[in-house]
This record gives sequence, structure tokens and C-alpha cells, in this order.
Amino acid sequence: MIGQPSLLVDQVRSTAQLNADTPPVALFCPDRSLLQSTMLEAKDQAPVRLNDPTLWIDDSLVNDEWIALEQVPRFPVTNPATSEVIGTVSDMTVEHCREAIDRAHEAFKTFSKTTPQFRADVLQDFHQLVLANKEDLAKLVTLENGKSLTDSMAEVKYAASYLQWNSGEALRLYGRTIPSSLPGTRNWTQLEPVGVVAALCPWNFPIGMICRKVGPALAVGATVVIKVPAETPFSVLALIELARRAGVPPNVLQVITTDTHLSAIGDELCTNKKIKKISFTGSTRVGKLLASKSSGTLKKLSMELGGNAPFIVFDDADLDAAVGGALASKFRGSGQTCVCANRLYVHESIHSAFAAKFAAAVDAMKVGNGRDEGTSPSHLGPLIHERAVAKCVEHVEDAVKRGATVVTKQRPMPSRGAFFNPVVLADAPQDCLLTDEETFGPVAALIKFKTEDEVINLANETEFGLAGYFFSRDAARIFRVADALETGMVGVNTGVISQAVIPFGGIKESGWGKEGGAEAILDFCKVKAVI
Ligand code: SIN
Repeated sequence: MIGQPSLLVDQVRSTAQLNADTPPVALFCPDRSLLQSTMLEAKDQAPVRLNDPTLWIDDSLVNDEWIALEQVPRFPVTNPATSEVIGTVSDMTVEHCREAIDRAHEAFKTFSKTTPQFRADVLQDFHQLVLANKEDLAKLVTLENGKSLTDSMAEVKYAASYLQWNSGEALRLYGRTIPSSLPGTRNWTQLEPVGVVAALCPWNFPIGMICRKVGPALAVGATVVIKVPAETPFSVLALIELARRAGVPPNVLQVITTDTHLSAIGDELCTNKKIKKISFTGSTRVGKLLASKSSGTLKKLSMELGGNAPFIVFDDADLDAAVGGALASKFRGSGQTCVCANRLYVHESIHSAFAAKFAAAVDAMKVGNGRDEGTSPSHLGPLIHERAVAKCVEHVEDAVKRGATVVTKQRPMPSRGAFFNPVVLADAPQDCLLTDEETFGPVAALIKFKTEDEVINLANETEFGLAGYFFSRDAARIFRVADALETGMVGVNTGVISQAVIPFGGIKESGWGKEGGAEAILDFCKVKAVI
């Protein structure tokens, strides 16, 4: 198991103590060679062959040690491609969560005082370790999330890019000097870490979304209690082990795996006074619940919520580019991302041509176990569970009842696992379940429109406002439509927008706050004005 954790804690504490008496700025830089964790022992029951078998972890991280929690029930995790149980993890309770918050609170006292350079170096090493272990991480993501290996590999690199970006951001925590309006005074601002952050992360990007939250938190010197998605714990546990190997100090990251205590743990994270910020990625319904529950302690919130993205193809678009963009946007992660195109508006003059090309491309996609040989970006894995399949079926049936036509082939799906044959619907009506709520699956509804004004109104006629896309070759229209779309992000002539360097996030009921870009750091800081 891991060596010398208490020694490390003492080392960090005593250094902080020393520095506490050294005015004016008590920053310190722990000896990173003392913070490297020792290697774990490999477990024999790993259901997948890893280059580094010690990354198969089913224990719980308590006081910087991976331990099996005695007398705590465990819950099963299944492979959505086979419906087989791949392992079990501890169903941690609200007491475990409270202890984790206490440890993170204690660790904050010293971690918040580390130098930005120390944190930048740790993040840089974390980034390198994620890349060095990308094959193992991708295999774990595919095993428990189902997405194709190619998709999983893209996620791991995407995740790593948030660590790299935030490593740089740690060195750019700038305040401002502000000319004073009060005689005899000077003003400046300084950024201070927000405190203990609760990160509630989804299963659709088990590695990506954690790096997007943990990256800025580590950069500013905040500590984090991570609520792990119950569907995909193993990739997260491996990721956290890599964080430890990179030299993230003890207890800075806390990890809660839970299934049956989810609601009680959510309540604790929302009401515990030691938590100063909640960073959530998930549905608008749960986001609203968390926002209302945490109002009693007025926590800082970042909410990355539902999407229902419009995707508009104008009559002057490059049709092949638009088909490529629609495929990339709609079918990433088998349609289970919050920025997936959900409502595809196609100008009436090109609707049939677009539908024919798009349907042919979708029919050419392979569907099967994401880990199979020959996986490619056009390989779709299963959905996360049967409930997700049922929602797709419901949305297709509803649209067909209201006049849409299925233009893709019906293919037999594997008999086991949560598979769904991808569907393109032509002539879908504007009023149907598909346009009203996120499908979160591989169903693409094509809706006809006549004019630019009409389609802008249709695109904006939703409470959501995360991402929007459009394809056009008319320069004046590009500026007009980019301005008019009520979304936090707009893809112009591209279906791929996600990058660590942009402020990712929505408006309206798609949430608050930004993840990525220069803006993300501010969400993890308090701005203090000194006069
Ligand atoms: C999400 O689906 O929540 C995130 C998608 C992305 O980062 O591209």
C-alpha cells in the first residue's frame, strides 16, 4: 500500500507552521520528492489487462491511503456493453463524506499557502502522468462507460489538456491595481482560493469532467471533495492515484464513491459550512436542486447543465462539411454529451440532400462493444444503461407519431448490453419530445425551416442555452447568427468546440460559470479588494 502518509502530512504542516511566522506573505513550497506516493500492489481481479495493473483500484482513499472499508456494503459497477458486473466499490455514507470534508478543510490550511509554482509543477506532472497512462485510462473509460476506445482516448487527452492549461493558470493569478477615489489610499485586488470545493461529476466524461474541475482548483490552491459517478468509479480512482503520484499533497483530493446514499451526500455537500463552492456537471433538474439546497450557506456555484443544442444548416452551407460537423457533434460519446446537437434545423431547399448524405454516413457507423478491434470515430458503443435506451425509443416513437420519417436502416443490435441503433429522422416537427428535452442518445431529428429569422426564433425557443452550431458560407450571416444565438458557445462551420482554452459553459437554464479558459480560475477564487 502507500507509504509514509502521516510523515508527509507532518512535513507539510511543519513547513506551514514555520512559514506562518514569516511575514508578510507566508507561501511555502513543500519538498516534492517527499510527496511522491509509493507504488500500489496490483490486484488480481482486474477485469481488463492494463499496462500498469496497479491502476485497477477498488479501495477507498482515506487519509491518503487506499483501504478497503470494513463493514461498508459495496455496490456493483457494470459494463454497459455486456451488462456484466466488472467490480464493486464501497457505498460510502454521509459520515464518510463529512470526514472527507473535514480532511479537505484541514488540508486547505496548508495547500492554500503553497506557491503557485509548486502547484503549477504538480499539475504539469499530473498532466504528463495522465498522458503516459492514456491507454490504461482509456480502457477503463470504455469498460465502464461504453464509449469506443477512440472516443475514450480522445477524452483522456482532452482531460489532460485541462491539467496542462491550469498548470499555466496557476502562474497567472493576477490581481489589479485600481486608481483610488479616496485621498491618501491605494487599491489593489488579490485572488484567494475559494476554500473546499465539492465537485459533482458525471459518468459521460469520467476523466474529463474531473480534470476540468480539479485542474483550476489545484491551480488556485483549493482542496476538493469529489463525488464520483456511481456508473464509472474505476477510471476516476485510477486518475486520483495518478494525481497522488504527481505529488498532489495528502488530503487535498477526497473521493466519495456512493450509490444508495447519493441524496444524503448531496445534501451534506450542499449544507456543510466547510464547503465553499459547488461545481456540478449534470442535468438542469439536479442543478436547480443543488442550487436551492446550497442557498442556506450561499456557496459559490458553477453549474454546467443541460444543452438541447440547435444545429442549423443554411442553404449556402458546404453540405459535406455540415454532414461531417453533424456527425461529430451528434454522435460523440454515442450522443451522450451536453453539447451534442439535439435539434438539427436544415433549410427546406437542401433538407432531402442533407438527409440522404447524413443517413448514409450514420448507416456506415459500426455499433458494438467499444473495446473491439477496429474501433474508430465512427464506432458507437452502447448507451450507459437501459433507461437511456428507453428514452431514445420514446423520442423516436413520439416524433414518428407526429409526422417524422426514419431514414436510417434498422439493424439488429447485440443481444446483451444497452445498445441502440442510431436513428436519423427527416421532416421532424418542431413540437415534439426531441425538441423539448435533451435526448442524450444517438437520435438526430432534422427539422425544415424557410428563413433565417424563423430558424433563429426556433433555435432560441428553449430554456436551454449551452451550445449552438451553424453552417453557412455567407460572412455577413455568420456574424449575424453568431450574435443572435442565445447560447454560451457557438460553433461556426464546425461540430467540435470543446477545448481547455475556451470558457466552456452555458447561459439561461444551462447554468452559470465557466470551466476552461482564463475565466474558470475566477470561479475557484475569492476576489479580495485591499484599500
Ligand atoms: C459534457 O457533456 O458535460 C461536456 C462535454 C464537453 O466537454 O465537450
